[in-house]
Order: sequence, then C-alpha cells, then structure tokens
Amino acid sequence: MHAKTKIIIDTDPGIDDAIALFMAMADPDLEILGITAVNGNVSVDKAEYNIRRICDFAWHTGIPVYKGCDRPLKRSVLNAEWVHGSDGLAGLDFGDPTYKGEQENAVDFIIKTLMKSFEKEISLVAIGPLTNIATAFLKEPKIVSRIRELIIMGGGFCEDGPRGNSTPYAEFNMLADPHAAEIVFDMAERVTVIPMEVGMQAEADAVFLEKMRDLNTRCAAISADMLDITAKTLSAHLAKTSKTGTAPEKGTSLYDPCAVGCLIRPALFSGRYGTVQVNTDSNDEKFGMTTFEEGNKRNCLVTHKVDKDAFKKMLLMHLADLP
Ligand code: RIB
Ligand code: CA
Repeated sequence: MHAKTKIIIDTDPGIDDAIALFMAMADPDLEILGITAVNGNVSVDKAEYNIRRICDFAWHTGIPVYKGCDRPLKRSVLNAEWVHGSDGLAGLDFGDPTYKGEQENAVDFIIKTLMKSFEKEISLVAIGPLTNIATAFLKEPKIVSRIRELIIMGGGFCEDGPRGNSTPYAEFNMLADPHAAEIVFDMAERVTVIPMEVGMQAEADAVFLEKMRDLNTRCAAISADMLDITAKTLSAHLAKTSKTGTAPEKGTSLYDPCAVGCLIRPALFSGRYGTVQVNTDSNDEKFGMTTFEEGNKRNCLVTHKVDKDAFKKMLLMHLADLP
C-alpha cells in the first residue's frame, strides 16, 4: 500500500474553496496535515470559521485549522463578499463548527511542518491570495526547497480572452495581494499554476449541477446550491453592467477545485514551463496582472488546458464519497 500524499491547503473560503476542500477530504490518497486560513474572499476570521464549518459538515473534524494573515503585504484589504456572500458561503446553513481552531499562527504552522518533515514530503495547495505563503517564504527561506509540490490557483494568461475576473486585467487571488504573489513566483523552486482560464473551462453548468444533486448527499447538495447561487449572482452582475441589461445564464467556474484536481490527477492538465511576473504598480490599471515568459527549466508550469469532462466526473466521484 503506497503512502498517502501529505498536504497543507491554504484557503479563503469562499464557495469554490469549500468544494475544493470537500474534494481533498474525500480523496483516499491525500493526508491533510492542516488547513490554513488567509484573508481573501472574506476576512481571515470568517475564512478560518468557514474552514471548520466545512470540515464539520463533511464529518472531517480531525483536521487542524490555523488562522493566518489578516491583510495583504502592502496593498489595502480586498474581499469578494459580493460573490461569496457576507458569510463567505452564500449564507447557506453549514451549521456552527463543533471544534476549535489552533492557537498557532498559520505561517508558523507552515514553517514548522515543512522544517520537521522529510525533504519534498509535503505538497502545498494555495487557493486564496498568497499572503501566508509569501510570509512563510520570507520568514524561513529554507522551506522553499523542502516543498514537494506547490500548486496555486491564480492569475490569468489568456492572450485573446479575459485576463482578469476582478478587473479586466487581474484575477482575484493575484489582485488581493500582488506583492505576495510576486515573492512566491520569484522564490518558488517549482510551482504549478491553475489560472482562471482553466477554472473557466471546468464550468459547473445546470446539467452538471443536476448530476451533483442526483448524488443525494448533503455535501453534493450544498455544493450545488452554492454554485447555483453564485451563477445567479454573477449573471445579475453581468446584466447590470451590460448595455442590453441582460446576460446569459452561465455556469460557475470551478477555480479552486481544479487546483486540488491537478494534485490528484495531474495528467488531466496540460501547460508550459516558464516564469510568471506580477504587476505590483498600484497606480497602473493593470495592477495585479500576471504575465508569462516561456522557457524550459524555469520554475513555473502554467496550465492552459484541463480535460474538463474527466475532471468534472472525478469531482462528482469524490463528492459521492462524502456524507
Ligand atoms: O479568481 C478565483 C479565485 O479567487 C478563487 O480562489 C476564489 O475562491 C477567489 O479566492
Ligand atoms: Ca479561493
């Protein structure tokens, strides 16, 4: 029997974060050493509280949860409550957590765990702004070479399509802390990037939500409800900002679940090696924009395609294994 892959997930739940966490909890080959909260979609306090609610809801209350950075390194605080709801989980009833979070700060947990582990033993999955990861890298640079694999959901590299989902140029996780992202992309030895255009390929449309509901489990049902609410929120937002006052009913992009999916089955994702730069000029309209320079033997594998049908089938199979 092969050893499980040890992972730490850094997250800002957040609707798609919740589904990514469900997926990770359901996977028999992953051992989640801890889940760390970061300011992003909602405040770090709400994110940490939501992580415990999500774990409780999936009957995985044994996973330790740590609170991390409550603000970006330099820029002002940015949240996305208009998308995820003021509580961060679309106002749905996840119940209150039945267990407490850890006292230790998330950054110290990440450093301590990587320093005491074997080299290349632990993978990091970052599905929120990179403030915790960057702070840990700066505080103890030795951890960088000890990471087995770093997978980041963030950025946008489309040449002929939207490069941003927060501004026309910037994806949310990058815009929420561009300075942290720049540090991580510079210092990381090896990072796999799941940009927004890959998450958009894996769209949870109405047909997919029906298949999710047909699983007849509470985690699948609440996931479908969250995605349905988000689709309506985003469609209403688009209608408000469109000239015709209407917008097509679109599905919701499965951004964060794609990051976990890439850890579980990397063969479903294809990309190119190169380096990633981040615009950190807050006076520039392209603040937070990511750019890619291709080149072998570089530290970033930026994915641009996912086998979306296989990925969505895998997500359903994982949700089916939860309560
Ligand atoms: O742009 C999508 C990313 O920003 C996702 O991680 C979502 O949860 C938000 O944090
Ligand atoms: Ca997120």
